[in-house]
Amino acid sequence: MLNWEELIKECEECKKCDLGYTRKNVVVGRGNVNAPMMLVGEGPGQQEDEQGLPFVGAAGKLLDLLLDAMPFKKDDYYIANIVKCRPPGNRVPMDEEAERCLPFLRNQVALIKPKIIVCMGATAMKYIIDKNAKITQIRGQWLERKGYWIMPTFHPAALLRDESKKILMWEDFKKVKAKLEEVVKE
Ligand code: URA
Repeated sequence: MLNWEELIKECEECKKCDLGYTRKNVVVGRGNVNAPMMLVGEGPGQQEDEQGLPFVGAAGKLLDLLLDAMPFKKDDYYIANIVKCRPPGNRVPMDEEAERCLPFLRNQVALIKPKIIVCMGATAMKYIIDKNAKITQIRGQWLERKGYWIMPTFHPAALLRDESKKILMWEDFKKVKAKLEEVVKE
């Protein structure tokens, strides 16, 4: 396992897949590296690629609003993605790209040791929970795996396309908030 400094350097130098050749910046993560909760999305978009930070574009602004409204404190969470480099045109990452990048995410999980992992959207669900599951069917239901509480929910970009999902994602995050209060007491 790499420490944070080594991990960031490896990510910055990574050319394990083609995304490493087209990115502007690698996007490792943002937030508290000792947080009790991790949020995982799909991959950087244009804004994220420009700034080197996850969830800073339109979907990220909506996510921040949601997290602040719950409310969560900034210290409560760390945000990362399945892939650390922007897929051109914001396409869904390919299997090979995700598989080559996942050891970095696993390393991040091992360093942070969160109690809760929130998988936002189909891509996070596919690589963290189950390749064949459907996000609309499993969202909002806790899974316990290897000592982590895992909550699948929608990707915030899905809320930008379909307003009716807002209330459902809100309900999922209410469950996350309640679980966080429970686990930090333990
Ligand atoms: N969408 C994601 O999945 N991740 C980001 O960092 C930004 C948008």
